[in-house]
Amino acid sequence: MIGIFDSGIGGLTVVKAVMGKIPGYDIIYFGDTARTPYGSKSSETVIQYAIEDTEFLLNNGANIIVVACNTASSVATDSIVKKFDVPVFEVITPAVELAVESSRKMSIGVIGTRATVKSCVYENKIKAINAGAKIYSVACPLLVPLVEEGWINRPETSMIVKKYLHSLKVKQIDTLILGCTHYPLLKHIICRKIGKRVNIIDSSLGVADKLEKFLQEHPDIGSRLGKNGKSRIIVSDITAQFEKTAKATLRRNVVLEHARI
Ligand code: DGL
Repeated sequence: MIGIFDSGIGGLTVVKAVMGKIPGYDIIYFGDTARTPYGSKSSETVIQYAIEDTEFLLNNGANIIVVACNTASSVATDSIVKKFDVPVFEVITPAVELAVESSRKMSIGVIGTRATVKSCVYENKIKAINAGAKIYSVACPLLVPLVEEGWINRPETSMIVKKYLHSLKVKQIDTLILGCTHYPLLKHIICRKIGKRVNIIDSSLGVADKLEKFLQEHPDIGSRLGKNGKSRIIVSDITAQFEKTAKATLRRNVVLEHARI
């Protein structure tokens, strides 16, 4: 099974991208809704949670791990790779590669949670490919709660997005990385506010591409993942709001299972 985890429900954007790119593979998703958000927590706490999330998925049949959460990908990937002997995918590297490929001026904006922006992981990875690139990062802590409240088409959300993107617009970036699970759900507003000329990089699509390529190159591992089109979505806390957000993200009826870790 492909194991995918996130701090909560937002990582279902990655599940959707994976289901769209490589349909049929069995997926087990863990959303740590009891301890969300991760984006405002310290690195030490996020690493501890990410290790527990990974252990949970491996104990429940996952053979490979996808860290859907940008915050956990930013600060915990090295610790997960060191601790567990399974293929691990994160959402940062694929987004960075797509951004560097598509940027003509090498003027790239990144938006994410406070923890992701503080980690400088996007800057470091982009600079490792192109030392001369200009990267401008903005933490957008209000966007996650707005998405979780379902305020996806509200004028207030548009105003807040506009405010966050203002400094990136002034810098005339030509590429913008959506460095958070929830932002693909605001893509329509982000595109409008940043302007049509800016390429938007959705990290959920990038990791699905990486996974597809990996499975083509490693058919032995691919054949060990079940391919019965089954998916389980497990969360550490269930509320009506989480169920609503899950349905809105996957655009279908979703049965959430509850588990304590
Ligand atoms: N999943 C987190 C991320 O992608 C956003 C929500 C949170 O802060 O936990 O960074």
